[in-house]
Amino acid sequence: MRALVARGHEVVCIVRPRAGVGGGLAPDDSVRLLEGAIVRFGDVGDPASLSRDGVRGERFDAVVSCLASRTGLPDDAWAIDHRANVHALAAAQACGASQFVLLSAICVQKPLLAFQFAKLAFEKALVESGMTYSIVRPTAFFKSLSGQVERVRRGKPFLVFGDGTLTACKPISDDDLAAYLAECLDDETRWNRVLPIGGPGPALTPRQQGEHLFKLFGRPPRFKHVPVALLDVIIGGLAAAGRVVPQLAKKAELARIGRYYATESMLVFDPATGRYDSDATPSTGSETLFDFYARLASGAAAPERGDHAVF
Ligand SMILES: NC(=O)c1ccc[n+]([C@@H]2O[C@H](COP(=O)([O-])OP(=O)(O)OC[C@H]3O[C@@H](n4cnc5c(N)ncnc54)[C@H](OP(=O)(O)O)[C@@H]3O)[C@@H](O)[C@H]2O)c1
Repeated sequence: MRALVARGHEVVCIVRPRAGVGGGLAPDDSVRLLEGAIVRFGDVGDPASLSRDGVRGERFDAVVSCLASRTGLPDDAWAIDHRANVHALAAAQACGASQFVLLSAICVQKPLLAFQFAKLAFEKALVESGMTYSIVRPTAFFKSLSGQVERVRRGKPFLVFGDGTLTACKPISDDDLAAYLAECLDDETRWNRVLPIGGPGPALTPRQQGEHLFKLFGRPPRFKHVPVALLDVIIGGLAAAGRVVPQLAKKAELARIGRYYATESMLVFDPATGRYDSDATPSTGSETLFDFYARLASGAAAPERGDHAVF
């Protein structure tokens, strides 16, 4: 939103009455957080609310959707990543918008999880809609790679799957990603394209992230290795128990999501070689994960933990 306002756009944000992690933001908090935009409260799951409370009969030029399920669980993913975006697309077409920018995720290139199939189903609907689209598929966000900063600060070991080099990503900051999304509106080279995008600098493994944190806090590196096979055992157990207790089926899906990120890189995947390719993953922006770690360490930034944090 800030990136759009900074570029001179008039922005209307559609927000639910209780927003943020765990619904922690009341309407006044959202209005404060989204200063510079017009904030309207509604239910993106309900097309009538989208039209009545969000669009209000006005004309719009474009829709930028960052909608996504907060848990990644199948029902929520199909309700939000797919259906709510389908409603937003219909509302966009009805109010005269000609352009739709979608925040998606790089992991959909190798789909194994329910939320990835839900995202892909909407990507397809968008491509087939005839609107000018930009489907932005970023790599990992800083917040997803900051869950262990406090552990290391407190002298605990850094947890890694395997030897900590099973995966890599090119982390991207919120502001750099926001700028990239906002620029999709005017940059014709980003129209009608699927755009994988990472942050600046080389790809980083979890081991490199941990090593950097130990250096930052002046401690000798100490890693605790978690075997991926342990996750398989947990998933198997939860899935079996989940056939009887639905709550455990949800936990099995969350464990599957954890396993995916423990074993799959957030880089462009080359289906011909079956490998992730750091060089083929475009970079944008200027903020690095290690800049962010330094700001977390000094207290200049606070970590945002999602509803689905693993560490
Ligand atoms: N996290 C990463 O490292 C990462 C990496 C690459 C791509 N991505 C993708 O980027 C997108 C955003 O990710 P994120 O981590 O920023 O997700 P997030 O913090 O969970 O944000 C999801 C957004 O969707 C809204 N939303 C969810 N359920 C809703 C509902 N029932 N009604 C109305 N609004 C709802 C949330 O609003 P509220 O504030 O009201 O909950 C929030 O604005 C996702 O598509 C994700 O897959 C994430």
